[in-house]
Formats: sequence, C-alpha cells, structure tokens
Amino acid sequence: MVTATACANIALIKYWGKRSVAENLPAAGSLSLTLDALRTTTTVELVEGADRLTLDGDPVEGKPLARITRFVDLVRAATGRSESVQVTSKNAFPTAAGLASSASAFAALAVAAARAFGLEASSKELSILARKGSGSAARSIFGRFARMTDGDDAHAFPLEGIDLTLGAAIAVAKAGPKAIGSTEGMERTRETSPYHAAWIDTVNRDLGPAEQALRAGDVDRLAQIVEGNCLAMHANAMAARPGILYFRPATLWAIEEVRQLRAGGTPVFFTIDAGPHVVAFAPLEHLEAVATRLAGHPDVAEVITSGPGEGARVVEG
Ligand code: PMV
Repeated sequence: MVTATACANIALIKYWGKRSVAENLPAAGSLSLTLDALRTTTTVELVEGADRLTLDGDPVEGKPLARITRFVDLVRAATGRSESVQVTSKNAFPTAAGLASSASAFAALAVAAARAFGLEASSKELSILARKGSGSAARSIFGRFARMTDGDDAHAFPLEGIDLTLGAAIAVAKAGPKAIGSTEGMERTRETSPYHAAWIDTVNRDLGPAEQALRAGDVDRLAQIVEGNCLAMHANAMAARPGILYFRPATLWAIEEVRQLRAGGTPVFFTIDAGPHVVAFAPLEHLEAVATRLAGHPDVAEVITSGPGEGARVVEG
C-alpha cells in the first residue's frame, strides 16, 4: 500500500489545445505555480478482482473509474504486471468546484502507482506519465513554478532560482451550469475557432517573457503578460462554435476588483481556468487584503488562499 500527495497548480501561461488527444500531447508549452492549499492525497493498494476507486469517501464507477484503469494500465504495461488496484483519493478542497483537481489527482496517482508497481522513474518520467492522465498534472510533479515543454515527450520541469514568492487567492464562484470539460473544450476550440492558430502563437510568444518577468520579480510586467494570456485563451474558446463561455457575472466582477486593487498600488493579477473562478496571484504579504476584497460579492461562495506548494511525493509505503 502506497500513499502519495500532490498539489494542484494554476497556469500563468495556459495550456489550451492538444497536438494529439491519444497521447495527450499539448500543442504548446505552459507555465504554472503549484499551490499548497489544493492538495490531493491518494493511496494505491494492489488487490484481487477489478480496479476500484473511492473518492472523498464514496465509491465511484463509470467514466472516472475507466479513466483510472486506463492510466494504471500504462504502469501495468511498463512493469509487465497485472494486479488490480484500489485507489483511494481525498481532496483537501471542493472537487465539484472544478479547481484543477485533475492536476493534483493524476500527479499523486502517478507517484503512488509507480511506487506500488515498482516502476523506477525519474521526476521527468513521472511528469510524462502524469501528463497522460491530465496535461496539467505533468506540472504538479514539481513544486513552486514549473514550465511544460511541447515535444513528443512533453513534460514539465521546475524553474529554479526564482526569488519572487507568489501565492493565490481563489474566488470560488457559486456553481452555475456545469462547465464543459477541458478535453472537449480544447478539441471544439481547435476544430472551430478562427483564432486558434493565433492563440498558439500567443502562448509561444508569452512563455519566455513570462519566465523573464518572474526571474526579475517584475509583477507589473507579469500582470500584463498573464492577464493577456488568460484573456486570449478565453477569447479563443468563446470564438469556438458553439462558443465556450466559462465566465459568470461574479467572474467579471472579480476581474474588475483585481484591476482596481492593482491601480491602487497592490501588486496583484488574475487568471481564470476552464471555469468561473478568478485566481488572483500576489506576493504573500498582500494575499489577505486581496482575499477580503474578493469575498465581497454574493455569488462568491468562498475565497481560498494558498502559498506555493511542493512537488508530488510518496508519504507512506
Ligand atoms: O490538464 P487539463 O486537461 O485539466 O487542462 C488544463 C486546462 C487549463 O486549466 C484551463 C489551463 C492549464 O494550463 O492548466
């Protein structure tokens, strides 16, 4: 029995578009911050019979279990073993809120399953394995800032030597209509949005300057690049047919609050994933003030604050 823990990450430069769905290869790189508060702990036990999944205390079947089986099949194939698994996973944050839980889930599962089946793997290899479960999970193998490559062996690597410490305040919007999942959203965007090629160019142009701004500790520059990248991703998704619109009224409200705070001198900037929640990044000493401000809307259910998280690791077994 092996237990591993991993934290979700939020991308500053976003991944939105696959080069290969079968291999789950991104069409461009990305850059993220792993967050301590968004933690998943997963136990893998080798068992007789069929694969089983327990999520936050409840047995789960159907599509989520099939996705786990497909993923563990990769580890079984790589080791020539055939045991079934009982996967027991707990999120320290609301799964239903759609807060990048697949990133922490597949990073923790990759690390736990590799150890349980005796697969010797470097952190690069674990990142490649995690990517096959969920693209963003490749980045959660590493702590703090991570950058993702876009080759045939797409994997993340840690960005070392950055002094800037950022945390996040996440304005969790009250649930609206169920958001379109990332794979479906990405494929619809790639197939139908007239802006998709320009979006991929935008990512390729943003990655280097974003890393430079991080290294320089230049939050104003980061704000321009990160917010521009996020809005370009959503503009691309909105231009798909039918259009994909993740924003809710509380999303627009929170964007405006972040921009007003910044205009007033607070070093803060936002991003938004495939859902309605606004993630505000700021140096740790400013997070409480940002969180208090973002709590002031009736459709914001809660604000989660978090410092940087560490990489995925085995905690037992
Ligand atoms: O890894 P996935 O399939 O959950 O896709 C992640 C997509 C975004 O969260 C919107 C962007 C990103 O880079 O994390």
